[in-house]
Amino acid sequence: MAKRVALAYSGGLDTSVAVRWLREEYGVEVVAVAVDVGQGGESFEDITARALAAGAVEAVVVDAREELAADFCFPAIAANARYEGKYPLVSSLSRPVIVKHLVEQARLFGCDAVAHGCTGKGNDQVRFEVGTRALAPEFEILAPARVWGLTREDCVALAAKWEIPIQQTKEKIYSIDENLWGRAIECGRIEDPWHTTRLEPFTLTQITEQGPVEVIIGFEQGRPVTIDGVSYSPADMIDKMNTIAGATGFGRLDMVENRRVGIKSREVYEAPGALALIAAHSDLEDLTLERDVAHEKLRLEPRWAELVYDGMWFSPLKNALDAFIAETQRFVTGEVRMTFEAPGLMRVDGRRSPVALYDYELATYDAADTFRHQDAEGFVRLWGLGISTWAKRHGAEPGSAK
Ligand code: ARG
Repeated sequence: MAKRVALAYSGGLDTSVAVRWLREEYGVEVVAVAVDVGQGGESFEDITARALAAGAVEAVVVDAREELAADFCFPAIAANARYEGKYPLVSSLSRPVIVKHLVEQARLFGCDAVAHGCTGKGNDQVRFEVGTRALAPEFEILAPARVWGLTREDCVALAAKWEIPIQQTKEKIYSIDENLWGRAIECGRIEDPWHTTRLEPFTLTQITEQGPVEVIIGFEQGRPVTIDGVSYSPADMIDKMNTIAGATGFGRLDMVENRRVGIKSREVYEAPGALALIAAHSDLEDLTLERDVAHEKLRLEPRWAELVYDGMWFSPLKNALDAFIAETQRFVTGEVRMTFEAPGLMRVDGRRSPVALYDYELATYDAADTFRHQDAEGFVRLWGLGISTWAKRHGAEPGSAK
């Protein structure tokens, strides 16, 4: 049995109750690890104070914002990652960076286990646990919320009994997970897939500007580095794009998705920066990737997104796909012009690159044309040779077998 546990601590009701519950039920010491992934909200001083009030022996904060942006979100941009063609992996990307720091802090503080506050129904438990198994297979993993059988009211009552200062005690309507890559909204009335999301609690996407707003995003080797010629750090780049794109209402998603644990769930997201940056990046690839590379990459991108969604960030296949993607990004350098306009419209409006494979003299129909038209005749004849052989054998219009 574990003696000292590093708990991934958010400061919310569940993980606060978990601190004391772990101590009471398992007799373990709890080290609360709060990771700043750009979730906003309360100050980390308040959060660590609460962890200590709940009975943690230590409470630490790790600032992982730039790391999340550079090492997790930027690879997702390179992979044009959208799970099931839609969801840009908001929560899926933050869990591996949290796991990485949880394991690091656990080792630093001499823990023999880690713990998380996830329930048994979601994907986040999968990401925490598979991630921990990859980075620290020797650790025990505790998941109090999966075994304690407490309702929200029970947790509120326990927090009161244990004198843990909790902010919201009223009925909680939504489960919201936020980081700098976006926001995921679950539960409450949106659990009915028919319920309109018009009035949901959006914060990153609101129409405060009508537009059209034009911005030019500069990329270097697949990484967004400038907006309108000004350089930004990875986290600031995402922040800034959230502000620009979100102001015209762009970046909302409403979908029914397939969780790893077999449940279909209705999810509402807002990820203006993420969706805009992926769209810009993908457009620049159209200009700079060779055809076969582009087509193969399109086949592998959904697999990358699925692996990350499924908690396999630290896995051999993900590493192998990363190597492929990194190779494809060598020449994804250039600029993309985007326009945002209320309500929620975005379009890519132009792209250019010093290493574009677009060749005006090959593409043009005007006098500058250098394309060798005479080559086309033989090429097309050979391209269709098999077809013409088949047609001669079976008649001009053989139709299909019925
Ligand atoms: N369904 C999304 C995902 O699996 C969002 C999860 C949000 N997590 C949460 N604890 N509310 O990535």
